[in-house]
Amino acid sequence: MTQGLIIVGAQWGDEGKGKIVDLYSQRAQIVARFQGGNNAGHTLYVGDQKLILHLIPSGILHPHTLCYIGPGVVCDPEVLEKEMAALTASSVPNIATRVRLSPLTHLILDYHRAVDAAREQGSDSIGTTKRGIGPAYEDRVGRRGVRVCDLMGDQFEKTAERIRRQVQEKNALLTHVWGKPVLDADAQIEKCRHFARFLEPLVSASTFWLQHELKKGTRIIYEGAQGILLDLDFGTYPFVTSSHTLPGQGAIGLGCPLPQPTAVLGVLKAYATRVGDGPFPTELTNSDGDNLRKWGSEFGATTGRPRRCGWLDLVALRYAVRVGGITHLAITKADILSQAQEVQVCTAYRYRGSEMNENDFPLCSDTLDEVDPVYRTFPSWPALGASLSDGPFQSLPHTLQAYLAFIEDFVEVPVAVVSMGPGRAQVVERIRLL
Ligand code: IMP
Repeated sequence: MTQGLIIVGAQWGDEGKGKIVDLYSQRAQIVARFQGGNNAGHTLYVGDQKLILHLIPSGILHPHTLCYIGPGVVCDPEVLEKEMAALTASSVPNIATRVRLSPLTHLILDYHRAVDAAREQGSDSIGTTKRGIGPAYEDRVGRRGVRVCDLMGDQFEKTAERIRRQVQEKNALLTHVWGKPVLDADAQIEKCRHFARFLEPLVSASTFWLQHELKKGTRIIYEGAQGILLDLDFGTYPFVTSSHTLPGQGAIGLGCPLPQPTAVLGVLKAYATRVGDGPFPTELTNSDGDNLRKWGSEFGATTGRPRRCGWLDLVALRYAVRVGGITHLAITKADILSQAQEVQVCTAYRYRGSEMNENDFPLCSDTLDEVDPVYRTFPSWPALGASLSDGPFQSLPHTLQAYLAFIEDFVEVPVAVVSMGPGRAQVVERIRLL
């Protein structure tokens, strides 16, 4: 058992991390998000009510947790405000005191969203969520971003001038490069005045607090967003997000060492999906893909876009496990494949007529776009009943166990959790990690 657990996506995002974070949060005191922004979307159910979280860590439904949004995240304050209001309206207790925000977190403002949307209309579009994520991270790296602390107290007036210059700069791009309407600097500054009032009470926690808690032995979940194959450097560049999704980013994005010992849990679907553009070797563009989309309700939680669907790609997964130092796997939506006649997994790529070295994952997106998957076929498995919680792994159908054993052998890490449905009770925890 470990004091900390790092949870990341092992594919292209949308692996069902929210549900896995929710599962482990019953045993953690703090859930800390370390990267990404409201490009993420986690669907959670409070009773019959469906809630989609984009920024607040998915541990929030457990009333004892503190949910921290770290400096590695880019935060759209309007989205955070709405999310907190929706949770409060759903009677989730003490939202105002349980959500904590780092003063160092960068803000997504109107001009970031406008630039993201305008750039996406050009020929270099990559299918972003248009939430302003890339432009906000660009401004952070360019040292012209606006952090939460920049809006606080006396700092505000100085920051207001920087915001004015930023709106002017972005307006030049918006009109001259993309032919879009200009934004009003005064209106942006007024909005920021409101954000300052709303954000101030949330900024009670800093990285020192987290370090102190870690030292005390508090159990912490480091929550990642998106997936390893969308990592800025190690994903399918340029079809990636603008932050590092690798587990090591947990230390940087929170300003706190990784807990020792720790487990790195990589979450994957029993098949594969991707939203946005970019290579996807096992994508099914036929009725098999349509079926997976229908059975798995594969539509983006953030944008509603239909997700591209395909078979599980073990070559890509093994790459993600290795580059991410993943120690355990959590497999979600295994129930969806019960509806298939048979199940395929990709075990190698063919490139221009020959099979590639089994350890090769092409790092160039154009090459990955050209590979053909080599498949191995498995029988599917019967659907299970509604409640599985704490049920022994051995009670899973043998055909599913064989599928999982093959994955484990291939990527050389064990499966710790199998999720067989959307409910909290539809999970088999085979290895206790926290
Ligand atoms: P951005 O993060 O909005 O800039 O989008 C860059 C790429 O990452 C696009 O292909 C998006 O569809 C994808 N992306 C970003 N966030 C998520 C996510 O949470 N799940 C799945 N794909 C995502």
